[in-house]
Amino acid sequence: MNPPAVGEAEQRFESIDLAALTRADRYKILTGAVIPRPIAFVTSLGPGGIVNAAPFSQFVILAVDPGLLGFSVGPRPGGSDAKDTLVNVQRAGEFVINMVPEGWEQRVQQASEEYPPDVSEADLLGFATLPSRRIATPRLAGSKIQFECTLDQVLQFGDAPNHLVVGRIVEMHVAEGLTQNCRIDARAYAPVARIGGRNYVRLGDIVEV
Ligand SMILES: Cc1cc2nc3c(=O)[nH]c(=O)nc-3n(C[C@H](O)[C@H](O)[C@H](O)COP(=O)(O)O)c2cc1C
Repeated sequence: MNPPAVGEAEQRFESIDLAALTRADRYKILTGAVIPRPIAFVTSLGPGGIVNAAPFSQFVILAVDPGLLGFSVGPRPGGSDAKDTLVNVQRAGEFVINMVPEGWEQRVQQASEEYPPDVSEADLLGFATLPSRRIATPRLAGSKIQFECTLDQVLQFGDAPNHLVVGRIVEMHVAEGLTQNCRIDARAYAPVARIGGRNYVRLGDIVEV
């Protein structure tokens, strides 16, 4: 074990009882602390085949055998009905996770605003789509990596509640030139991540150890 760096042992902390905070403050402090978070920009099929697009940064690799990805859908602010993405993936049993390239930050933020289920964020915000190979939900052109997923399961957590949507990757698309022997060139990929509030980060230093 390395000895602590000079000053580490003297660091003082503010200890916070999360249960004593308001929900808004709990959200603020947790989403400010667990950073940077990659963003699953999820396309799903709404009523009449409309293409819904919404970002989710509570997003994680859950398994590699098989490849399972999960993202957590919280309650609608102040509302009782479920977010469109949750309704759509439960109805259609499939969705696409599009990774977010640099330059999309503003439009991703706009896509997170509330639109009625019959409005396509993809059309409204000018995202071009590409057909998927294994499922009916289209991918977003311009995203450098996309995962076609079928719905594996939905798990419920917390009081609000939150729904962890688990997708089984049935096809993965990687922009040409990004990968060699399955190793992805992170610099060329350059995905955007979310930090607290309306703030996003791009790749900074890469430290090889
Ligand atoms: C970058 C970003 C990340 C977000 N991550 C989440 C998340 O992980 N879970 C969630 O419930 N909402 C998240 N949101 C909010 C949703 O995108 C928002 O509620 C959206 O309106 C849901 O759209 P839908 O009703 O079409 O599914 C995020 C918003 C932004 C801008």
